[in-house]
Amino acid sequence: MSNDRDKTIEPLSGPMSGTASVPGDKSISHRAVLFSAMAEGTSRLTGVLDSDDVQSSIAAVRQLGADVDLKEAPDGSLEGTVTGWGEKGPVQPKHDIDCGNSGTTARLLMGMLAPWPIEVTLTGDESLRRRPMRRNTAPLMKMGVRFRPSEADHLPITEVGTLHLHAIEYDAPMASAQLKTSVLLAGIYADGTTTVTEPAPSRNHTELMLPEFGVPTTAGTRVATVTGPAHMKASDINVPGDPSSAAFLCCAALLRRGSRLRVENVSLNPARIGFVRTLERMGARISEHRTGAEGKEPVGYIDVEHTGGLHGCEVPSQHFASIIDEVPVLALVAAHAKGLTVFRGIAELRAKESDRLQAIIDGLEVLGVDAWEESDNLFVEGDPNLQVPPRALFASHGDHRLAMTWALVGLCGNTPVKVTDFDCVGVSFPGFLDSIERLVH
Ligand code: S3P
Repeated sequence: MSNDRDKTIEPLSGPMSGTASVPGDKSISHRAVLFSAMAEGTSRLTGVLDSDDVQSSIAAVRQLGADVDLKEAPDGSLEGTVTGWGEKGPVQPKHDIDCGNSGTTARLLMGMLAPWPIEVTLTGDESLRRRPMRRNTAPLMKMGVRFRPSEADHLPITEVGTLHLHAIEYDAPMASAQLKTSVLLAGIYADGTTTVTEPAPSRNHTELMLPEFGVPTTAGTRVATVTGPAHMKASDINVPGDPSSAAFLCCAALLRRGSRLRVENVSLNPARIGFVRTLERMGARISEHRTGAEGKEPVGYIDVEHTGGLHGCEVPSQHFASIIDEVPVLALVAAHAKGLTVFRGIAELRAKESDRLQAIIDGLEVLGVDAWEESDNLFVEGDPNLQVPPRALFASHGDHRLAMTWALVGLCGNTPVKVTDFDCVGVSFPGFLDSIERLVH
């Protein structure tokens, strides 16, 4: 299974210490680019994540007629302007739109394209073409959008929007911010109030950002609405650091004896920092401190210190959406904690960039850790004396969060490991290894 795209990850030469920052939040960056593209006028964006996923959103809106002038800033983020299509709408693209690996690009575009009578084919890489899309097309069809093939669950799918969208009240079958957002974005151009109710709260960046673009929006714990038709006007957005990237630095510090870190300028949106709550439950010394806000997003720093003595815990299903991207790395920490950890209600992990549920179980098995799934719950039997076996090889399945999780085994353990297709970390955290190595003094 080993080949030249595999990466050997060597153990760190010492503990991690000092202050770190992480690249811009992926979810907020997508929204800043996409909403600016929809708006009338020129938006100014700073701190935008320069990653493969966000580049997929940038390329897509360019094909649809937005003028994107974002350049690399000294800190590696993107900054500049996006001039949107506003009331004249997007242009008919000449080619299919390739969303790459990005589910957020594909699903949010479906909502954005709903109000315009053009015909657009959305596609993606092999991973994205395997991910479920019927969850998105079904509510949009109720609003009047047509899809070809109409029953398709997988990309490529062709969308034909309509100038006559109906507002709907939608009970989402799962807590998914991508699904919620695509319905709300279509609702901006429907006549009346579109409501999305979720079984548990998913991340709310859309509801926090749309009012900045002039869209009447309400945000409850599980209910969000937009009232249309609204005119989107340009806005200025500064993207804070990504808590999901910060989670990897925090977990690395917890796994590497003697480490003590601060990760600054990160979004502290409660829907995103469920990993801090989970690690606290395991007995970790970790805390977040608010220093201000970017728009309506709370921002601050996270302090974390290695103390050892972690123990297993129970993570209830209502918390799942707030750790949806962090379960792989939290499962790795759980593997080093004393006793059993249970993550409840984790079925959605099967529909991510890979089948993350199976991949976590398989990777932990390589480590000799007992992990299993039962009735949509993930069980991990931890061992504080866990030793990494020599020449261990971990499959990333081309999934960035898995690649970084298994890299921590090598960085924080006693022997090098190999991780397959490691370059996929560029989807969300380019420079991941350098960021960690910079903290070793
Ligand atoms: C995202 C929502 C989440 C998350 C993904 C980004 C978003 O997916 O896993 O990485 O930006 O809206 P869900 O749609 O399953 O919540």
